[in-house]
Amino acid sequence: MKFFIDTANLDQIKTAESMGILDGVTTNPSLAARESAPYREILAEICKVVNGPVSAEVISTEYDGMMKEGHELAKIADNIVVKIPTIAEGLKAIKTLHSENIKTNATLVFSPSQALLVAKAGASYVSPFIGRLDDVSTHGMELIEKIIAIYQNYQFATEMLVASIRNPIHVVDAALLGADICTMPLSVIEMLVKHPLTDIGLEKFIADYKKAQK
Ligand code: G3P
Repeated sequence: MKFFIDTANLDQIKTAESMGILDGVTTNPSLAARESAPYREILAEICKVVNGPVSAEVISTEYDGMMKEGHELAKIADNIVVKIPTIAEGLKAIKTLHSENIKTNATLVFSPSQALLVAKAGASYVSPFIGRLDDVSTHGMELIEKIIAIYQNYQFATEMLVASIRNPIHVVDAALLGADICTMPLSVIEMLVKHPLTDIGLEKFIADYKKAQK
């Protein structure tokens, strides 16, 4: 499974990159708004640090605006993936960008039917937001299971990018289902490696080693 970091913060991206497990980055307008530099400048910097795909989101809701923004974003670097909202106009933009060999990430996916349509349109990635479904008492992971089954039925090439991840269990459950990618905040990446028994065991090994040297 590939690991993406869900942030526009360059320091956090560099930290994850230095851990040796980072495969890509996802950003969105809300994450970009937390940073001081303009969105496109941040994206250019991120693309210098990360070799893998970097999702950059359009804010237009009409086809023409999405295409204009998509072309501008794609020019920033070769590894930019244009993030398009999953609405009817978005499907049209995904289809055209796909025909132009520009990669797309269909975002704000909350249902199997949306996932089916974006795959038919040629999206490179589908981003179901599981944490936001959990927030409204709906099992986000059940959506992942359904989309994986649908994509396997028809051998769609669209990669499953599990988004809105809030905790390590989300990552483990997505891995058990065979999801291609999880995107998560740095805090979740850090939680994945931590275990109190590891810390207790390590402390004891170091203490015993010191005793043995006396
Ligand atoms: O990148 C989009 C997604 O991961 C958003 O997550 O936590 O705002 O629901 P969240």
